[in-house]
Amino acid sequence: MRVAFTLNGKAVEAEVEPRTLLVDLLRQTLLLSGTHVGCDTGQCGACTVHLDGRAVKSCLVLAVQADGRTVLTIEGVAAGEALHPLQEAFRDRHALQCGFCTPGMIMSGLDLVTHLDKADETAIREGLAGNLCRCTGYRPIIEAIAACIGEKG
Ligand code: FES
Ligand code: FES
Repeated sequence: MRVAFTLNGKAVEAEVEPRTLLVDLLRQTLLLSGTHVGCDTGQCGACTVHLDGRAVKSCLVLAVQADGRTVLTIEGVAAGEALHPLQEAFRDRHALQCGFCTPGMIMSGLDLVTHLDKADETAIREGLAGNLCRCTGYRPIIEAIAACIGEKG
């Protein structure tokens, strides 16, 4: 089957099997390895990307479901050399240790930064419930997201 969609602002097309997962299309065919695979069963959130502007776990989405839609991965978050403010907030607050969970945390965090009106810690915690950090650095991650929401004014 042929799928065509917008990936990080550019039109892409690929041949996939009906059972191909979006995460495998991104990593193996399109060679965007910033989207990580921690569990393959929808539990860790390392594979989080945006589909039409909302965070989804790409190991739970079929590649064909992206057809005609817009996908954003961690590779598309920065503007060239300029980090996104959320990426800067993660860096400034040491919100990453080994970095394995970080792409997924950034993509889920970006959804929260976009859709939350205020930096409510409970809402941020709930929004991150599907993202696991094996280094357990949740406090600075929450603070980085809250700071970025606060900067929205
Ligand atoms: S790899 Fe998708 S949730 Fe863990
Ligand atoms: S920083 Fe290591 S898994 Fe989160």
